[in-house]
Parts: sequence; C-alpha cells; structure tokens
Amino acid sequence: MAAIFPPWANVAARASLIAGVCALGGLAVGVMAWARTPNATRRYQPVSQPVPFDHRVHVAGEHIDCRYCHFSVERSSTAGIPPSTTCVPCHSTTWLTSATLAPVVKSVETNTPLRWNRVTALPGFVYFNHAVHVNNGVHCETCHGRVDRMAAVYQAEPLTMNWCVSCHRARAPRLTNCSTCHR
Ligand code: HEC
Ligand code: HEC
Ligand code: HEC
Ligand code: HEC
Ligand code: HEC
Repeated sequence: MAAIFPPWANVAARASLIAGVCALGGLAVGVMAWARTPNATRRYQPVSQPVPFDHRVHVAGEHIDCRYCHFSVERSSTAGIPPSTTCVPCHSTTWLTSATLAPVVKSVETNTPLRWNRVTALPGFVYFNHAVHVNNGVHCETCHGRVDRMAAVYQAEPLTMNWCVSCHRARAPRLTNCSTCHR
C-alpha cells in the first residue's frame, strides 16, 4: 500500500497531522497572536500573490460579475476564491505564451490549487456570514471598497469590532449583543 505513494507523501501527511494538532492546541495562542496584530494595521497593505490578478481588467474591462468568480457569496458564509479552472475558458488560447499565466497553467495541469494569499481575514473567534449581508442589501463595496478599481486587492475598511457594531447599531440593532458574532 505504502509503495504507491511518492517519498514525500509521508512528510506531507505528518505536516498536516502536526498542523491539525496545533490547530486544536494552539487556539489560545492564535487569539493572543491576533490581539497583537489588530486588523487596523493591515488596512491598505499590499499583499503579494502568485499571479498578478488585476480586478480592473476583469471586472471593469470584461464586465464580469463578482459572483461569476466568488460564486458562493450569496448562499454561504464564505465568498470563495475561484479554482484555476475558472480561468481556462478565457485564457487557454494565449496562456502557453504568457509567463505571467504560467503558474495558472501548472495549477490546472497538476490539479493543484494556486496559493492565493488572504487579503481580508477575521480572527477565528469571530462569526461572519456573507450570504446574510449580501441578501440584506449590504454591497461588496461597503466592506471591500472599489475592488473594480484595484490593480491588486487590499483591505479597504478597518474590519474592527467597532466598525461591525456601528453598522449593526444603525441597521440591525437586535444584532449588537456579543453572541451575534462570538459564539
Ligand atoms: C471572462 C474572461 C476571463 C476570465 C474568466 C479570466 N480572465 Fe484573465 N483576462 C481576461 C482578459 C480579456 C484579459 C486582458 C487581455 C489579456 O491580457 O489576455 C485578462 C488578463 C489577465 C492577466 C494579465 C495577462 C498577462 O499575460 O499578463 C492575468 C494575469 C489574468 N488575466 C489572470 C486570470 C486568472 C488567474 C483568472 C482566473 C481566476 C482569469 N484571469 C480569468 C479575461 C478573463
Ligand atoms: C475573473 C474572476 C474574478 C472576478 C470577476 C472577481 N474576482 Fe475577486 N478575486 C479573484 C481572484 C482570483 C482573487 C484572489 C487573488 C487576489 O486577491 O487578487 C480575488 C480576490 C478578491 C478579494 C480578496 C480576497 C481576500 O483574500 O480577502 C476580494 C475582496 C474580491 N476578490 C472581491 C471582488 C469583488 C467585489 C468583485 C466584483 C466587483 C470581484 N472580486 C470580481 C477573482 C475574481
Ligand atoms: C458586511 C461586510 C461584507 C460584505 C457586504 C462583503 N464582504 Fe467579503 N468579506 C468580509 C469579511 C469580514 C471577510 C473576511 C471573512 C473571514 O475572515 O471570515 C470577507 C472575505 C471575502 C473574501 C475572501 C474569501 C472568503 O470567502 O472569506 C472574498 C473573495 C470576498 N469577501 C468577496 C466579497 C464579494 C464578492 C462580496 C459582494 C458580493 C462581498 N465579499 C461582500 C466582509 C464583507
Ligand atoms: C454596512 C453594514 C454592516 C456591516 C459593516 C456589518 N454588518 Fe453584519 N449585518 C448587517 C445587516 C444588515 C445584517 C442582517 C440584519 C437582518 O437580518 O435583518 C447583518 C447580520 C449579521 C449577522 C447575523 C448573521 C446570522 O447568521 O443571522 C452577523 C453574525 C454579522 N452581521 C456579523 C458581522 C461582522 C462580524 C461584521 C464585521 C466584520 C459585520 N457584520 C459588519 C450589516 C452590517
Ligand atoms: C457585529 C459583530 C460583533 C459584535 C456584536 C461583538 N463583537 Fe467582539 N469582535 C468582533 C470582531 C470583528 C472582532 C475582531 C476585531 C479585530 O480583529 O480587530 C472582535 C474582537 C473582540 C475581542 C478581542 C479584542 C482584541 O483586542 O483582539 C473581544 C474580547 C470581543 N470582541 C468581545 C466582545 C464583547 C464582550 C461583545 C459584546 C459586548 C462583542 N465583542 C460584540 C465583532 C463583534
């Protein structure tokens, strides 16, 4: 059985086991780390990506709806990052000659997801749900800024507790008690 796995499989399995154990045991550590790096400091900060994906070209230029790529945003807690196969229909004719797109080609060929770096992330102890907001008329722009005008996505809003609570106070006062966002 073990013979069909490549030599590094064992290492990968161990790494994921360690990651799993750390995730369980490291919860308190994680919260402490977050307390030291408040979201506010990451606002406007550039985030490097494996491929220089430009929302201006794709959203403004190509008029592609946000939901074409972030397809779960209306029905799930997460918006989702599109898999590399989403890029194929438009790019497959030219991409063998584009060095910029080489990582996408490799990702599709090897069936390995691209490792996009997170731009917007709340600490794990906060509950957030995209669908509830989007379906109650809160637009992407309100929380993410004008992504359609960004060469590279950055965090446009503070995403602090006070920022969340201020809007709730104005628009959804029954959702200002602690257990709304901390469960
Ligand atoms: C609906 C069509 C469409 C989809 C889907 C699409 N793109 Fe594009 N993309 C374009 C067009 C049009 C351009 C501008 C013309 C060009 O450079 O090919 C472009 C340009 C680019 C460029 C700059 C091209 C270069 O060679 O420098 C990158 C990088 C890119 N896209 C990445 C992606 C990635 C990654 C995905 C999938 C997550 C994706 N695109 C999905 C249509 C699309
Ligand atoms: C053609 C596909 C495509 C379309 C259309 C698209 N996006 Fe994206 N989006 C991506 C990809 C790929 C990434 C990951 C790379 C990056 O961060 O730029 C991303 C990243 C993001 C992020 C950052 C995610 C994080 O890590 O926090 C936000 C926010 C976002 N998109 C919002 C939007 C909004 C709002 C629209 C519509 C105005 C939109 N996107 C349209 C493909 C797309
Ligand atoms: C009420 C504010 C709010 C609205 C409205 C909103 N987002 Fe987000 N978005 C967030 C927050 C907060 C995160 C980080 C979530 C986390 O870390 O759990 C996020 C994360 C993301 C991500 C990263 C992947 C993920 O699912 O976590 C993408 C992509 C994204 N949003 C796209 C969109 C798009 C597209 C829309 C509009 C259709 C939208 N968002 C509307 C606040 C919002
Ligand atoms: C611009 C306004 C606005 C902002 C900013 C905002 N929210 Fe909301 N939030 C709403 C509205 C509107 C609702 C839906 C109210 C309703 O159900 O009537 C909602 C609902 C919720 C719910 C209830 C979800 C459920 O499952 O019932 C949670 C949890 C929540 N928001 C968390 C957050 C967090 C965390 C943030 C900050 C990262 C945030 N919100 C930022 C407007 C906002
Ligand atoms: C609408 C959503 C929402 C509500 C309601 C809410 N919180 Fe928060 N809370 C957040 C978010 C988002 C963060 C993370 C902020 C950050 O990373 O800067 C947070 C962070 C925290 C933290 C960690 C602070 C730190 O410095 O890291 C504590 C403690 C906390 N909340 C307690 C509470 C208490 C107590 C209540 C009730 C009085 C409450 N929260 C109500 C969204 C909410």
